Order: sequence, then C-alpha cells, then structure tokens
Amino acid sequence: MITLGTTSGMALGRTAPNGVPRAASDVRDAFGRPVRSLRISVTDKCNLRCGYCMPEEDYVWLGRQEILSFEEIAVLAGAFSDLGVDRLRITGGEPLLRRELEVLVGSLAADPRVRDLALTTNGVLLPRLAGRLREAGLGRVTVSLDTLRPERFLALTRRDAHAEVLRGIGAARDAGFERLKLNTVVIRGFNDDELGDLLEFGRRAGAEVRFIEYMDVGGATRWALDRVVSRAEILRVLEERYGAAVALPNEGSAPADRFVLPDGLTFGIVSSTTAPFCGTCDRARLTTDGMFFLCLYARDGLDLKRLLRGGAGAGEIRDAIAGAWRARTDRGAEDRLALGAPGRPGERGVLYAIEDLRRDVHREMHTRGG
Ligand code: GTP
Ligand code: 5AD
Ligand code: SF4
Repeated sequence: MITLGTTSGMALGRTAPNGVPRAASDVRDAFGRPVRSLRISVTDKCNLRCGYCMPEEDYVWLGRQEILSFEEIAVLAGAFSDLGVDRLRITGGEPLLRRELEVLVGSLAADPRVRDLALTTNGVLLPRLAGRLREAGLGRVTVSLDTLRPERFLALTRRDAHAEVLRGIGAARDAGFERLKLNTVVIRGFNDDELGDLLEFGRRAGAEVRFIEYMDVGGATRWALDRVVSRAEILRVLEERYGAAVALPNEGSAPADRFVLPDGLTFGIVSSTTAPFCGTCDRARLTTDGMFFLCLYARDGLDLKRLLRGGAGAGEIRDAIAGAWRARTDRGAEDRLALGAPGRPGERGVLYAIEDLRRDVHREMHTRGG
C-alpha cells in the first residue's frame, strides 16, 4: 500500500517562511522552460465521439491492470510538485467517467503546494457531479461547448446529449465554480457561423469562451488544413460584430491569448495551429497508465508506472522525471507549423494515420489528455 503524499515537500521537511512547502529544485529544460503544470488523464474512455478527437468506429482501450490507482496518481503528482509543479489539471478521455473522482480530487487538493486544481470535461455528467467535486476541493472547471445547436452537437459527437451539457454548465456555476471557461474548437463549415452566438451564451452563463484552432493532434484523423479557422480570422469575424478587440496582458504560459471587446466582454483564443506557444510551455502530461509525455505531439514517453510498480522510491521517481525534463527539446506545435499553415502551402496532413494510432494508443489525444 502506498501512502498518499510520500513525496510531498512537507514530508521532506522543506517549508518556506510563509508555511508553504517549497519545490525541491527549479528544473529547466533545454530551452530554459520550467515545469509548472501537470495534466493528469484519469481515463482514456469517453462518452462522446467528437469528430476532432475520436472520429473512428472502434478504439483500442487500455487494460484495467494498466490504469493507475488514485494512490499511484497522488504519488506521481507529488513527485512533479517536488520539482516545481503547482498547477494540476484533470483530463481524460472524459474524466467524470472515472468512478469516485472526488476522492482523487480531495487528495490532490490536500497538497498545499497545489495552487490551482482544474478539470476539463465535456460536461455531460456535471449535473450529477459538480457539487461533489466542488466540495472535494476542485478549484476550476472548463467545459467543452462547440455548438449551441442540438442537431450539430449530435452530428459532431454522435450522442444526443446537448441538453445535459447545457445543464452541466449551469450546475457548475450553481456549485460555486468561479472563472468558468468554455472551450470551443472552431471548424470551418461546422461552427464558424456561431462564434458571436457562443460568446453571447458565455455572457449569459457567466463563463469565458475560448476559441481553439482545430489542431492536427493524434486522433484527429479527419483534420485538414483548410478546415482550420485561424486566430486572425476568428478575430476578424468577431470584430465585424462587436468592434475592435483589445489584447489583454498574457497570463504567463497559458495557451489562450485573452481579449476584451468594447462592451467589456472577454474571451480567449488558443492558436496552437497558426501561432504556437511552445516557447513558454511549462506543461507535463501523465496518462492514465502512468506514461509521462513532455509534449502534446511527442512520439514517446517515459513509463513512470513501471518505475513505481517496480518499487522505485520517491527520490528515484523524482530524478527520472527531472532527467527527462532537463533533456526536453520539444516544440511540437512549432515543428508542425513549419510544415505549413493556412494560406502557406506545405506538406501538412494528419499527424498519424489510423493504423499508426492502433499501433500505439498513447498517440491518441483521448489517451494523452489534450
Ligand atoms: P487554463 O488556461 O489554465 O484554464 O488551462 P488550459 O488552457 O491549459 O486548459 P484546457 O485544457 O482547456 O486547454 C485548452 C486547449 O489548449 C485544449 O484544446 C488543449 O488541448 C490545448 N492545449 C493545452 N495545452 C497545450 C499545449 O501544451 N500545447 C498545445 N499545442 N495545445 C495545448
Ligand atoms: N483540436 C483542438 N482541440 C482539441 N481538443 C481535442 N481534440 C482537439 C483538436 N483536434 C481539445 C478541446 C476539447 C478538449 C477536451 O480537447 O479543447 O475541449
Ligand atoms: Fe508544449 Fe508541445 Fe504544445 Fe508546444 S506543442 S506548447 S511544446 S505541448
């Protein structure tokens, strides 16, 4: 049995004068980027089949024995915190499918080094779970909302669950989550005529909308450059309706650039496809079977589960993570951009064909957690 928090700074006795335990070291990668944020995928399963992420008929799933227990996740998250991580984001697949997720939330929230504990969800199960998660100590929620039209939702996700998602957004607000965010992947010919309407929905719901450029991540087997609506185009469309959008100061390494409209409404754009933000990337990823990935686009990861289940101690795990991070040279989205961008012809097609995804399930966005 592993004890929760065995690698915590508290346990190691490093406490700053303000009482908050201090990170063991400031680990930097080959470009001087620190590790500050960990995205933890808690399941590879999903209850939707969004066309930009899981468009295929069938998938290879991780085996039950492969999946980390909550205790194991907490130990690994603690090792990352020892190295400077203070922001955690729970992802999936769809994270709310993981049973008793509030137990994991409670144990992660109990680590005083965790400054920000957030979750990205498709919202379907939020009406049932929002209150429980809030009580357990979850700080923030981001819900995916790509369309306001139920028939488009059905066509995109192959599930008739639009009403639940809308109720889920309301449930998150009612549960007391502040700084609620809505993620909209913008796809030409699908929802690019709804940008203003989605902003208005966000205004009424008390949530900030972030428009995300369609990315050629693993799993996006239907991706094509001409379906990407660029940040410049998104801004042009919104400015026609609302007037000039003014850029707000950047929040450090956050993927979204934020803007404010003349009437005070704010929104974000995540422009990973046409204007990547690799230069400030401080994000690490842990899959639900314990693989540590250094980049959303990385081909290979480090098997932390094998170390953990092989009996490695906290120090050994921490050293393995630190070593991998120090050697990191990933700039995946920039490398993809070099192949071609909208308006600039190039060789850019899908990242992986379906056969390559079947060969290694970790290449899938729904395994890696976005
Ligand atoms: P906050 O801004 O802290 O709320 O979090 P976030 O923007 O990291 O959260 P979210 O999970 O909602 O991510 C928004 C979008 O950015 C998703 O589509 C992610 O896949 C994408 N994204 C997040 N991190 C990265 C990254 O490191 N690289 C790239 N290219 N895209 C990313
Ligand atoms: N392009 C852009 N964002 C994507 N996501 C998943 N697949 C893609 C893609 N191909 C992101 C969306 C969604 C989150 C779960 O993952 O932001 O809201
Ligand atoms: Fe970070 Fe890789 Fe995304 Fe660039 S593509 S921002 S390096 S995860």
